[in-house]
Amino acid sequence: MRYTGLIDNYKDRLPVDDSTKLISLGEGNTPLIRLENIPALLGKNMDIYIKYEGLNPTGSFKDRGMTMAVTKAVEAGSKAIICASTGNTSASAAAYAARAGIKAFVLIPEGKIALGKLAQAMIHGAVIIQIKGNFDDGMRLVKEVADHAPVSIVNSINPYRLQGQKTAAFEIIEELGDAPDYHCLPVGNAGNISAHWMGYTEYFDDKIAAKKPKMVGYQAAGAAPFVKGEMIDNPETIATAIRIGHPQSWDLAHKVEAESNGWFDALTDDEILAAQKLLTEQEGIFCEPASAASLAGAMRDINSGKIPEGSTIVCTLTGHGLKDPDTAITQCKNEMININPVMNEVRDAILNNM
Ligand code: F0G
Repeated sequence: MRYTGLIDNYKDRLPVDDSTKLISLGEGNTPLIRLENIPALLGKNMDIYIKYEGLNPTGSFKDRGMTMAVTKAVEAGSKAIICASTGNTSASAAAYAARAGIKAFVLIPEGKIALGKLAQAMIHGAVIIQIKGNFDDGMRLVKEVADHAPVSIVNSINPYRLQGQKTAAFEIIEELGDAPDYHCLPVGNAGNISAHWMGYTEYFDDKIAAKKPKMVGYQAAGAAPFVKGEMIDNPETIATAIRIGHPQSWDLAHKVEAESNGWFDALTDDEILAAQKLLTEQEGIFCEPASAASLAGAMRDINSGKIPEGSTIVCTLTGHGLKDPDTAITQCKNEMININPVMNEVRDAILNNM
């Protein structure tokens, strides 16, 4: 059977009916990859799974929410969508708007979005509005302007976004046969951690899962309002996707923390980049820096015993590594070998580097 996207797959659990025209690019159904080498390095007997959301059509988990948000915007007769974004939402909005034949306006913080994401928003034909400010400024402006212009907001304050994103939890339960013990995610606006909890709770209430996971949200140390316990005004981190100081889903995420007995914690940029590199080198999986916060945090909490041995853990990798080529190249110390086009020099390059 041809896979036709997550709305079609879960239409009984999403706010659509038979007459709804679905705007889909075949999103969802992403791989759940069991780590083989990192648990051994940690010296722990652990089932750690990676939910590789970077393999969605535009390279991030945003597509799960965007297919729902754009489907509903079109159903309501909207001709234009708008979002503020650290990059991935704008890429996804641009692609789904193109698919739907409507306009996308995206507000991005000047100079602070990764190159791949900018390329996506541009090539799909979004109207790109760069602001001399950060994501939080963009979010405030989007909310204000929506009252003055005919545009539908597709940030995660749009409830359809979370509905679409909850399906990641469904897929995990279906593959593992139950919920994991811990689910670790990078947190920015906190929409995704809230959406996952909705999905886990829904399957638990319907007795499809026998348990619910502890939800663990990891932030970048320079952009960690949940760890600090208050909003922050000048967030900074190399993980630009989660460079957010005023999360929109503040209350929802605190509810998730309390209901799931989970926690929030913060990682330095160095810890985040080290986890990104470890994952690429040890497991062959390339994610963007923000995504690696989930694994970086999980590894720290496994090492300290906060996440006990024998646990089943899922770490969401929210975006593909190709989103941010600059950061990847900058942190690679292995220099290239330059040679003349002759066999001897190739052979020497091999033998000297075995
Ligand atoms: N990881 C990546 C790669 C992201 O792009 C984002 C958010 C998050 C994690 C955090 O998810 O906000 O639901 O807690 N990116 C948004 C954007 C803000 O504009 O692309 P969250």
